[in-house]
Amino acid sequence: MRLDKYLSSATDLSRTDVKYLIRNKHVLIDGEICKSISFHVSDDQTVELDGEVIEQPGPRYFMLHKPKGYVCATKDSEHPTVIDLLDEPNKEKLQVAGRLDIDTTGLVLITDDGQWNHAITSPKRDCKKQYHVTLISNIDEQTVADFEEGIQLRGEERKTLPATMEMLYKNEVLLTISEGKYHQVKRMFAAAGNKVSDLHRKSIGAIDLDPDLNEGEYRRLTATEAQSISEKP
Ligand code: URA
Repeated sequence: MRLDKYLSSATDLSRTDVKYLIRNKHVLIDGEICKSISFHVSDDQTVELDGEVIEQPGPRYFMLHKPKGYVCATKDSEHPTVIDLLDEPNKEKLQVAGRLDIDTTGLVLITDDGQWNHAITSPKRDCKKQYHVTLISNIDEQTVADFEEGIQLRGEERKTLPATMEMLYKNEVLLTISEGKYHQVKRMFAAAGNKVSDLHRKSIGAIDLDPDLNEGEYRRLTATEAQSISEKP
């Protein structure tokens, strides 16, 4: 997109104002002054106006490494929320796609795109979530078989969808499920007579938690990561 159009569509400034600002060295592209109003801005370039990064309006997709103690809600009277960890404008438009409990850590996706959110949370879309689960007691073979078969949780009409387990230690597994019922992982292990002592989400669909993100840190999803969710029908 042409630089003058890029700036006028992403801000309240008129095309005339924008041209003046560009010519008078207020605009940087990837850190370098750009005085050309017809400069073509590509997707991977950063545009700054008077020191502020200017982005095109459009859906936003973030991944966050959730620490313990934060709730996956937009507002909460008692606890800090995952949204509090974001330094972004218009935070009231953001929603959490697939909640984690207050004591669960790991990957949380946040967006202002409702359809994309639905593709993650709807059981019909079969979007797999992988958890690293640490348990109080060792896991037996029967539990592995029962999880693959589906577990009848109290208060639910149907059994859970098949879940797969990869054993890491006798009391630690990588569990993959494709639903997100309330406290699902904890309830599944409770139904098997065990108890979750630590829970961490590693991935949602093809999106893995970025190992460079420390707890409490976040970043935008790449276009490939965001599209990996919406590609399914
Ligand atoms: N299942 C749970 O029990 N808790 C979570 O936070 C996520 C999945």
